Amino acid sequence: MKILDLITQVKHYSSLSEFSEEDRLLIEKSRESAKNAYAPYSHFKVGAAVLLENGQIVTGNNQENAAYPSGLCAERTAVFYASSQFPEIPFRKIAISSVSPEQNGTNPTSPCGACRQALIEYENKFNRKIEVILISENGEAYVFDSVTQLLPYSFGASDLPQTI
Ligand code: THU
Repeated sequence: MKILDLITQVKHYSSLSEFSEEDRLLIEKSRESAKNAYAPYSHFKVGAAVLLENGQIVTGNNQENAAYPSGLCAERTAVFYASSQFPEIPFRKIAISSVSPEQNGTNPTSPCGACRQALIEYENKFNRKIEVILISENGEAYVFDSVTQLLPYSFGASDLPQTI
């Protein structure tokens, strides 16, 4: 037996001014979207904004439900909507932000495992890296060049029997 390391890479940003204008717009869209989240149970509002290859931006936010597991995270709301409306257009980037009354504004929200899995499906589908921007309320951010950096050694179509 030997131990193999899985190495991932992330960029740390300390303020919004380090981002390009294009990124700042995407971040702003994710923040606007977070305000419209339906989160009466957790009070934790998350917004996601997807930049498509054609320059269009699609947003989504978390939608909760009294039957808790029936709700959906912001990231999947956004990417499922984007894919349902523009099935042939790859995603370039996704910005994710959150608003919570208890938060002190310093923690960028990290996508849950199910959202990482949903995101990597589209990265694989188009064979095109999707940049992931996790931004806190005070502008501190982590940026991943691709979903693979967030979900190394992932499960995908190539793991399924070739008869499918
Ligand atoms: N949530 C998201 O929308 N995205 C994340 O990345 C983490 C969690 C939502 C799900 C639920 O509505 C609330 O945040 C608390 O978990």
